[in-house]
Amino acid sequence: MSNQMNPYGLLKVVSYLPHFASYVFRHFPSAKLAVIVAALGVLLEYAALSVMMPLAGGNGQGSSGVSSAVVDFWHAIVATIGLPDEPRTWLWLFLLLLGVRIAVGFAQITLNTWVSKSILAHLSGGTFSRVLVLEPLAEIYRRTVGHYTALAGDEAVRVGQVFFHLAQTLSALIAAIIGLIVLLIFSLPVFKLTLLFLLLSGLSIGFAMKRVFAWSNESAQLSREANTTFIEAFNGIRSIRSMAGEEFVAQRYRNFIHRYGRVLFLLDVFNHGSRSLPGLILIVLGLIVLFPSGGFLQDFSAIYFFTVTTMLIRILSFLGTAVASGGRVAIDIRAAFDLDDIIGKAPTGKSISSGGRIISSVSNIGMSSLSCGYVLGKTVLTGVSAQLEAGRSYALVGKSGSGKSTLSDVLLGLLPPMSGELQIDGLSYDQIDLASLRRRVVLVEQQTRIFSGSVRENIAFGLAISDAEMQVAIETAGLGEFIDSLPQGLDTRLDYQGANFSGGQRQRIGLARAIVRKPDVLILDEATSALDGQTRDMVVQHLRELFRGKILLFITHDSHVIEVADEVWQIKKGKLTVEKRMVSI
Ligand SMILES: Nc1ncnc2c1ncn2[C@@H]1O[C@H](COP(=O)(O)OP(=O)(O)O)[C@@H](O)[C@H]1O
Ligand SMILES: [Mg+2]
Repeated sequence: MSNQMNPYGLLKVVSYLPHFASYVFRHFPSAKLAVIVAALGVLLEYAALSVMMPLAGGNGQGSSGVSSAVVDFWHAIVATIGLPDEPRTWLWLFLLLLGVRIAVGFAQITLNTWVSKSILAHLSGGTFSRVLVLEPLAEIYRRTVGHYTALAGDEAVRVGQVFFHLAQTLSALIAAIIGLIVLLIFSLPVFKLTLLFLLLSGLSIGFAMKRVFAWSNESAQLSREANTTFIEAFNGIRSIRSMAGEEFVAQRYRNFIHRYGRVLFLLDVFNHGSRSLPGLILIVLGLIVLFPSGGFLQDFSAIYFFTVTTMLIRILSFLGTAVASGGRVAIDIRAAFDLDDIIGKAPTGKSISSGGRIISSVSNIGMSSLSCGYVLGKTVLTGVSAQLEAGRSYALVGKSGSGKSTLSDVLLGLLPPMSGELQIDGLSYDQIDLASLRRRVVLVEQQTRIFSGSVRENIAFGLAISDAEMQVAIETAGLGEFIDSLPQGLDTRLDYQGANFSGGQRQRIGLARAIVRKPDVLILDEATSALDGQTRDMVVQHLRELFRGKILLFITHDSHVIEVADEVWQIKKGKLTVEKRMVSI
């Protein structure tokens, strides 16, 4: 779903920014307010600074038309309010403006943070739903779980930060530019020196950026690897312990996370370093001032020095912020490239549909000369021609690895056919909405996936079902007695992956889960394998009664199950043969 992780340059970052800004302003109205507040903050910053100018003695050395205009402006304001023109007044005004500036600064940070976190939530939620609904299974398997948790986690956070740092960069940059203009008015030589120094720092940071981008790529990669290791370890904890593989897995995780930490450390050092870099200019300039042999400082005075130094400190601090935040933007925006299909075309929200005709019932599935497989150019099955018809039951048999589950993936719309025809009630595969197909064709896996929650939640899984429907499913799946024996019945919680239940119990929960969905086609992939003979016979009997008039497809090795099916489909060497029986359910 995402772009490849191409290395990218500063140019790509800059050219991407308008695209990103348009996404932010389109979806987060408070972002506009954040910009206004940021501008207000800059204005107040300079208002607070300039209100001290009358105190500095008005038309001192180096002052120009602009600065005397500012002084006149403040005198006029003070006269209008009716305050006395004395140092106390200017100090009061300064403190007042400073207070307001701090308040506005706080509002600015709050708004920025709000927008950042909203972006995070939007991207994380959007990524999750897009992956769930649209990402092809093969792609998900190929990329592994860590890729997606990193996208919806770390990387969504980083894109949120892009807005935060972008806002910081821009307001600091504007403040610094205004400061530089004021400096230009005050002292041309100091201004020139400052520019020269900034150019040099800019160049060195520009060169460092290449390295920084590489670290940024590496950090994303490592975070994905670490996430994958972590989640897979949890899912396979039983196997890992049973083969005494804990130390191997722990070592693997530690390795990734150490390298991840090291790269993050380098990025942070760069970030903080670039913040302090422009501050060095002050030292250089200070040294020049201390040796006033330079011609331009002949009219040096304490007040003049004080004013210029104060201004420089502010400008440099703004520049430091701008450089550091700008660096973060450049680092974090690579995550935005990865999430671009959410940023580019925002999800519509509730239901993402693959498009196509909605299937409301299935009574016939026809395959002709169909071939399928997972890897391009490597078919698992070829030339499959067969029909599934309502009112009949089927047993699909074949050696392990022969392609039984592959065929069921095709019937479920999880795997598109490579060639040939697949028709659902006369509609071809690419005409239909696959999500709606999956509501009518339901699979019971050999290993039931248990999700955190109660037995009831695991069976209903989001469906609003009546007690009666629940009861039917429980009885059909042969779960009645077991659930009655549980202390909290249906409300008993299942542990992680259903560890507190046996394989057969989990399997029957999977059966009940499928039954409450009232599918038109029920596929049971070795779904009775963990049951004892008696329970299995009862379950199969119940299913046959309940699914009279529907399609039942048993994928099985069990001769008892094969016996009762109307047709036996056998897979051998990539070919399917159909054997019809005279019995009927
Ligand atoms: N997700 C996948 N990606 C690539 N190959 C797969 C995938 N799933 C199964 N296969 C391959 O397809 C073939 C058939 O597998 P499968 O349909 O699971 O067999 P079975 O008949 O045991 O259910 C096997 O060779 C298997 O390696
Ligand atoms: Mg299988």
